Amino acid sequence: MLLINIVRNTIALALSIALMSCGRTKNSSISSADDKVSELISQMTLEEKLGQMLQVDPGVYSSTIDLEKAIADGKIGSLLNIIGAQKVNRLQKIAIEQSRLHIPLIVGRDVIHGFRTIMPIPLGMAATWDTTIVKRAMEVAATEARAAGVHWTFAPMIDISRDARWGRIAESCGEDTYLTSVMTNAMVKGFQGDEITNHSVAACAKHYVGYGAAEGGRDYNTTNISEYYLRNIYLPPFKTAVDAGALTFMSAFNSLNGVPASGNAHTIRDILKTEWQFDGFVVSDWASVKDMVTHGYCETDADAAQAGINAGVDMEMSSDCYIQNAAKLIKDGKLKMSQIDDAVRRILKVKATLGLFEHPYTNESLAEKNTLTLQNLAVAQQAAEKSAVLLKNDGILPLKNNMKVALIGPLANAAHDQMGTWVFDGNKADSRTLKMALESTPGISVKYAAGLQYSRDEDESGFAEARRTAANADVCVLALGEESILSGEAHCLAKLVLQGHQQQLFETLKATGKPVVVVIMAGRPLAISKIVSKANAVLYAFHPGTMAGPALANLLYGIAIPEGRLPLTFVVDEGQIPLYYNYENTCRPAPENNPTSLKTIPVEAVQYSLGNSSFYLDYGSKPLFPFGYGLSYTTFEYRTLQLSSEKINTNSRLTVKCNITNTGQTRGTETVQLYLRDRVASFIRPIKELRGFQKITLNPGEQKEVAFNISAKDLGFYSPNGAFLVEPGAFDVWIGPNAEEGLKSSFAFE
Ligand code: BGC
Repeated sequence: MLLINIVRNTIALALSIALMSCGRTKNSSISSADDKVSELISQMTLEEKLGQMLQVDPGVYSSTIDLEKAIADGKIGSLLNIIGAQKVNRLQKIAIEQSRLHIPLIVGRDVIHGFRTIMPIPLGMAATWDTTIVKRAMEVAATEARAAGVHWTFAPMIDISRDARWGRIAESCGEDTYLTSVMTNAMVKGFQGDEITNHSVAACAKHYVGYGAAEGGRDYNTTNISEYYLRNIYLPPFKTAVDAGALTFMSAFNSLNGVPASGNAHTIRDILKTEWQFDGFVVSDWASVKDMVTHGYCETDADAAQAGINAGVDMEMSSDCYIQNAAKLIKDGKLKMSQIDDAVRRILKVKATLGLFEHPYTNESLAEKNTLTLQNLAVAQQAAEKSAVLLKNDGILPLKNNMKVALIGPLANAAHDQMGTWVFDGNKADSRTLKMALESTPGISVKYAAGLQYSRDEDESGFAEARRTAANADVCVLALGEESILSGEAHCLAKLVLQGHQQQLFETLKATGKPVVVVIMAGRPLAISKIVSKANAVLYAFHPGTMAGPALANLLYGIAIPEGRLPLTFVVDEGQIPLYYNYENTCRPAPENNPTSLKTIPVEAVQYSLGNSSFYLDYGSKPLFPFGYGLSYTTFEYRTLQLSSEKINTNSRLTVKCNITNTGQTRGTETVQLYLRDRVASFIRPIKELRGFQKITLNPGEQKEVAFNISAKDLGFYSPNGAFLVEPGAFDVWIGPNAEEGLKSSFAFE
């Protein structure tokens, strides 16, 4: 009888936690949920608490230990990499019905850019510069994932990435802190919803922190980031994630200034949890707690557990240092029970917020209804259309319906590879390729020849047919790029040129004399200067996802007008890396009008005109394309930059505005960008920084005034100790179409 009452009371308690906390934001509800979680914690044994702090992958774990028994014994709080409502429900039922305190499992999965309906890779999503479509795309991903029993995605990945050799640049939003922060907000809100519902998944801001600065672009590598750079470049997107309500964070694999990110009390406990007051929980990356032994930072698994818990990593993914060692560490006085309780409180709170106490099970009929729907596919197509960046066009695009098209190239019919990296649940059978899209469009004449079978292919035996096909056509559409396997985790490259014999395929088609339109699908910005110089048009699509084909076909024929803008700098050659727009001036900066390289100007002239300045003799200092760059099928003119005042102070605002006119023949969307520069400060500031952007759509001849408000917070920066400084002095301001062009003025902050 006593036992039954305890069980009833616990279920009632669990239910009331859910009712008090799920999706509610009122303070009274929050504190009441906190009280209930505390009550539940007071009933837990240490072993049950450590169970909540463990996340296992059944595929790996079940081979050594009885998974179901461990769940029934309350020794596991979370699973990853299990999907399917029925499968998840079966294990959830064990947690709810057989574990002593009936605490639900939370199930995580890498839903990075879509679940079944695959959206463009995150780098492509960032290239949309469109928060509405990004949020909507993540809502779709969340709805599909939740219907398959997933409660929690390990996304967004918001590591600033300035090195395209790093394979995980594909998963990032690129090189810019401001753009990444804006995208972070949209992605977190998309995954979680403005309010948590049973369509939401918890977001996980990762990888905290600095992972994108891996030395040499080699994954998992050392990062050395000064506190000044950490505060100003790498941390702000994570702060945005906290402000957007991200329920969880993931600690990174890399070492940061000599300390593993997963054992870093400074970044996790001091900055994230204390300074920013983050109330959710931190999960380690895959075995990154145990990896502190491999790093040579900890001698034993017990030391690693101590370092992880001390740093504030609340849940251990995949390895089991905590559950094996924490009890003894507490007994020996090396850890405090209050640290364990704090971690468990955070984890239970997130479970409650997701409504898992109240609704632990997934409705098994939802997946079919919610997955790969026409609406979801339409969102994926729209995202793919908005993410493609037109880099060059001599007027050949948009194609005319009466042109005979030769469709060639290894990416023209790559159902799997067009989806990009981190696609666990997407299915190539659902993908629509460019070949499928063009061949099924009525009234268009298309002939296809692969030329090369895949991007690394060096076999030129298909070239003759490709040439013949091109010779019989009016225009050649050549789909080049990289297979999905060439980017992503642990898939880094030393060279950024097109792999295999793709350049040769391009040259052979060019030699036919037919115009060549190149479409590139890739997980990173490739070094494509040799294509750009000779192609008639270049459309850079990143990996566009399930709906790549229809999206690209619409763009090629002008049914959709290109509006993507680069979320990072394109280098001429990888030897220039790192090359990013918001660099700090050196004491000997390269002059504004410096030549691209020795190849374009005689040596003596370079030496004479540049003197001692910061540039490469062979590649100059300019990128192939700057950050923010992208063309349309129309043109835009920027005129009359006006400032509402020449001065600003802490209490005032400045409005800067500009007239933009569509000077071409077709409707188009322009991304109007605002950049600022603090000319002199107590720390050297970047030569310019993005501080705002607006997308506007104009009909031919139409003009619009675009205004940005600037206040003191837009002018400041963080000192190494985290103080936000806004210093008096002169500031430059630009409104323009990318980081290298624009109208410029200046004002003073007093
Ligand atoms: C990756 C994470 C990912 C985790 C779980 C790790 O190898 O670094 O980004 O979320 O695996 O799959």
